[in-house]
Amino acid sequence: MHNIAVIGTGYVGLTAAIGLADFGSNVLGLDVNQEKIEMLQDGKMPIYEAGMQQIMDKNVREGRLRFSHEIDSGIQWADIIFVGVGTPQADDGSADLSALHIVAKTIGENLNRYKIVVIKSTVPIGTNEEVYNIIEKYNAKHMEFDIVSNPEFLREGRAMYDFLHPDRVVVGSNNLRPIETLKKVYRPLYLNEVPFVFTDLRTAEMIKYASNCFLATKVAFINEMARLCDAVGANVQTVAHAMGKDGRIGSKFLHPGPGYGGSCFPKDTHALAAIASQYNTELSVVQATIQSNSKHKKYIAQRIVQVFFDAIEEKTIAILGLAFKSDTDDMRDASSIIIIDELLRCGARVQVFDPQAMENARLLWQDKIIYAINEYEAVTNADAVVILTEWNQFRNLDLINIFAKMNDRKFFDFRNIYKRTEVEQVGGEYWGMGT
Ligand SMILES: NC(=O)c1ccc[n+]([C@@H]2O[C@H](COP(=O)([O-])OP(=O)(O)OC[C@H]3O[C@@H](n4cnc5c(N)ncnc54)[C@H](O)[C@@H]3O)[C@@H](O)[C@H]2O)c1
Repeated sequence: MHNIAVIGTGYVGLTAAIGLADFGSNVLGLDVNQEKIEMLQDGKMPIYEAGMQQIMDKNVREGRLRFSHEIDSGIQWADIIFVGVGTPQADDGSADLSALHIVAKTIGENLNRYKIVVIKSTVPIGTNEEVYNIIEKYNAKHMEFDIVSNPEFLREGRAMYDFLHPDRVVVGSNNLRPIETLKKVYRPLYLNEVPFVFTDLRTAEMIKYASNCFLATKVAFINEMARLCDAVGANVQTVAHAMGKDGRIGSKFLHPGPGYGGSCFPKDTHALAAIASQYNTELSVVQATIQSNSKHKKYIAQRIVQVFFDAIEEKTIAILGLAFKSDTDDMRDASSIIIIDELLRCGARVQVFDPQAMENARLLWQDKIIYAINEYEAVTNADAVVILTEWNQFRNLDLINIFAKMNDRKFFDFRNIYKRTEVEQVGGEYWGMGT
């Protein structure tokens, strides 16, 4: 059985730590965030992810999973070190690799025998080689080590499921030595015939960015089609449905909405554009995706403002859903941020409810908006209700009750989860996305 340290216990690191323990390794989750580690040591989840708590509890109980903030000794204990620290967007759009550089230095300083370092963070092309060089620089005892790029493709909200049932596992390495060990670490997946792609470091890094940028492009594309459908009077839902039936296109990621957000698509599209410009290569599709998504979020805010003929000041707008998508409390780069900020700028009063993201919202807006305890309180005395996140509990609202509590019955359904007719039947005025 391998001793695995996972450095960084965020969405990716924590999921990996729990998943790898579930695959049978001894795992130690490490993080600089002491508060997070104390929560985990107390058996509490720092993030909301369906099913994760149970699998964590089981692996802690069975003695395969622990957490610590003592990173040096954790590295020394481990045979394999997975790294899942954040690589956020820097001011110039590139990926900020400072956390990764610190981790690489710490690994180098603590190498006490041969180890495999597996980078799970999404990193620009060439970064794994850079990490190798940093580790080597601080590797005073001249221990042998290998670097593996093993990008993560999980979706927030389904993180645990995706880790345990991936569509594919990408393993990049510039030599063969670590490969057999990685196969053993992922043995349950390997035996289940999950496709494994073995490749070199740079190709593995590129696969992750190409995948995310393609998905972001698909979302931006269907959102543009939705805007055109709004203008020409066509129905984007039917357009997307018919497009998706074409096997070459596929139905996934063809759902119009308020624009992509979250911790990955925005930063990864910017990072790939930054990498391309560094290599004097034009990525006009990716650039267009970035611009299109940013315009789309503004378009959504403007649609609400324009419906009030610009008399939005003093109007009360209820926002249902703040997280960038359902089943997560993550609000990083969520469309709700741009939209609420624009509404506030125009002088509107904003009342919000999200089943999971309220704490994160309070950190962002403090007393600038009103926080409701549920969707029905959020719409009380509102002039409009705006659905931004497709939480299941918003799919089946008691519309009669909702409208009874509102001043005016304007209903903006930017996830297209209602039919125009069902809203109009109970006296509401409906705006969807391209419907
Ligand atoms: N969130 C996703 O859905 C997702 C999916 C695939 C890939 N990724 C990629 O995985 C990486 C991590 O993303 P995330 O969403 O898990 O980030 P996150 O911000 O949720 O977690 C990062 C964690 O790393 C810790 N950390 C930072 N510096 C550290 C250090 N020096 N030592 C130890 N711990 C440190 C932080 O305290 C934090 O807990 C990013 O590169 C991201 O692009 C994310």
